[in-house]
Amino acid sequence: MLVNYEVTESVAVLTMQQAPVNGLGLPLRKALREMLHKAFDDATIKGVVLTGGEKVFSAGADIEEFEAGLDGPNFADPYLGSLVDLVEAAGKPVVAAISGVCLGGGLELVLGCHYRVADSSARFGLPEVNLGILPGAGGTQRLPRLIGVEGALDLIVSGEMVDCERAVSLGLIDRVLVDEAEGTAVKKAVQLALEAASSGHWPRLRDVVIRMQANELSQLIEAKIATLRKPLPAALQCIDAVSWSVTLPFEEALGKEYAALRELMASAESQALRHAFFAERRAGKIQGISREVPVRAVTSVAVIGAGTMGSGIAMCCANAGMPVMLLDTSEEAVQRGLQGLAANYGAAIKRGRLTTEVADRRLRLISGSTDFSRIGSADLVIEAVYEDMAVKESVFRAIDSFAQPDAILASNTSTLDLDAIAGFTSRPQDVVGLHFFSPANLMRLLEVVRGAKTRDEVLASAMQFARKIGKVGVVAGVCDGFIGNRMFEEYLRQAYFLLDEGATPLQVDRALEDWGMAMGPLATMDLAGNDIGLAIRKRRKIEQPDRPYSAIPDLVAEMGRFGQKTGAGWYRYDPVTRKRQADPEIDSLVLEYGARNHIARREISDEEIVARCLFALANEGALILREGIAQRASDIDTVYLNGYGFPAHRGGPMFYADKIGLPNVLARIEGFQAGYMGELWQPASLLTELGETGQSFASV
Ligand code: CAA
Repeated sequence: MLVNYEVTESVAVLTMQQAPVNGLGLPLRKALREMLHKAFDDATIKGVVLTGGEKVFSAGADIEEFEAGLDGPNFADPYLGSLVDLVEAAGKPVVAAISGVCLGGGLELVLGCHYRVADSSARFGLPEVNLGILPGAGGTQRLPRLIGVEGALDLIVSGEMVDCERAVSLGLIDRVLVDEAEGTAVKKAVQLALEAASSGHWPRLRDVVIRMQANELSQLIEAKIATLRKPLPAALQCIDAVSWSVTLPFEEALGKEYAALRELMASAESQALRHAFFAERRAGKIQGISREVPVRAVTSVAVIGAGTMGSGIAMCCANAGMPVMLLDTSEEAVQRGLQGLAANYGAAIKRGRLTTEVADRRLRLISGSTDFSRIGSADLVIEAVYEDMAVKESVFRAIDSFAQPDAILASNTSTLDLDAIAGFTSRPQDVVGLHFFSPANLMRLLEVVRGAKTRDEVLASAMQFARKIGKVGVVAGVCDGFIGNRMFEEYLRQAYFLLDEGATPLQVDRALEDWGMAMGPLATMDLAGNDIGLAIRKRRKIEQPDRPYSAIPDLVAEMGRFGQKTGAGWYRYDPVTRKRQADPEIDSLVLEYGARNHIARREISDEEIVARCLFALANEGALILREGIAQRASDIDTVYLNGYGFPAHRGGPMFYADKIGLPNVLARIEGFQAGYMGELWQPASLLTELGETGQSFASV
């Protein structure tokens, strides 16, 4: 039964129970309508309480239904909006009793209720904008009537969740229970329904009239638009829709909201954002391993290497409430690591992101040591030392001798052979890669690398650990650079070749940033360090002599222009603001290089820059997919969306290529073959096969 019906003290309690998150798909909507009518039609019932599960009231509309399009089940009768109207128009008071998450259409349903009671576990949000749509079941009209236009704009345009305390201060809920002794939310809701029934009246949000001067409204709107990093259609539409709550009659505004939802639902942005949502969740599923595989609980961690990466990893563990020991070979290194950590927490307090109390609690979870025998108490040992096989070997031999028998042994290597590292231990089946991205405490992505001998339960445990520390874990096979960095190398190769041919660094970066990348490739290298890029290219010259690079980045690095850390790289950086500025010295260097090497310079369009860089990503992604390094194309997208600043509204490099159409991508690549360094453009066999048969990466 999707909705349980129970009567308490003449109040019908309707409990949604659609696993896993009470998604308001057609079956649940139908069941709700039926149970609501049952309660309304029964003269002995005085009021209704609507509730959900302990952890989830409702996560809103069933997003899977969106994929069937505008004639699909999401828009079938009863549409969510009409269900909300039914609740609001009831001849008996309807009270929502909320525990856990209450999102999107779930919150819209709650706004149709006459009163809202919540316990302290409740969290609220209208995350539709993150899916490229707007709340389409009255949320843009009822929320401003409840909490005011400004608060509604904040919640709807940010798509963020607020906790119960914040919901109270916003005026989102009528009664809140902070501790169990006060009874359950349902019990309180029943009382409230009875009180309202006996008083004979209950408020309906649709009846509220918002009085606001036109100039006040336009100021709020302008201020909100100014906060948008990228004014994407959904966010702008959300702002517009909230303004209708002031300027239009309720019913007319509802009609416009519904029409706007349908239009946005069909947009390319929404399709990409929905893909990103499901791709992230799919990434958590490991092919060939059932959900039932036993996992090893990770309750304490040891991190070896107290440098920037090791310290960042230690912060991730402490932030998730896990005790963590930071180890290094010298006391000085350990102290430096601990001080760096404390400074990071201090900066977070200063920026208002953390309270002193929380930061102190987290810091207390982190201890330092030079005594490697102490890793014996950790469930998970993460190596984060210098990227050199000899160094890794000595560390892993030490880990092997001290770690407890059931411990998971992880390496943070980004380029070295994990299987060789596992071979330094007597238990390669317990070794897994945990490739964090810098800064480790902030970046969401974690590549979880499955070695040739990694045991299923170790991989599953590592994925669970990723989730526990709030990361998006993506399984990758062993190869140089795994998924993300291996692809990034081809992207960079094209960015550099574009300079050879006539583009400036700023043009390359701007073209990709205007397209949506958070940061252009050259600015990214200035952040990562051009010295690191140089070291990789030196290695590549030996390993892959037939895959040359432009020599321009070597010249830049050899000038000591390592990037932001030296104040100059591809750009000059303001020492205080770190703002980048194009540097004529670099532009001349680029020009002279072209002339010296007799490379014909030409005007290069932004469109070509974007196509060359992005199709280089997709082509390498196709190789990675065929080799089984990535489990599925959407995992590759998840890597780029969470670790490389790829814009979510473009869905990821593989999704983007699918949208362009693989036959078109293939044709473009064939065109590039006729151009500068064209011999390096070899379409991946998978891309060729799919392109020639009109299929997509998603179909693999
Ligand atoms: N529809 C369909 N499936 C959903 C869903 C939804 N709204 N929300 C979550 N799920 C599914 C996930 O895909 C996942 O499925 P699998 O187990 O098969 O992978 C499962 O529920 C559990 O989800 P999570 O792994 O994300 O679990 P979590 O505990 O980490 O997070 C959550 C739970 C906070 C609810 C999170 O899933 C979430 O944020 N969901 C999206 C909520 C959302 O965007 N709602 C708005 C929908 S649009 C709308 O409602 C408005 C409208 O008017 C049209």
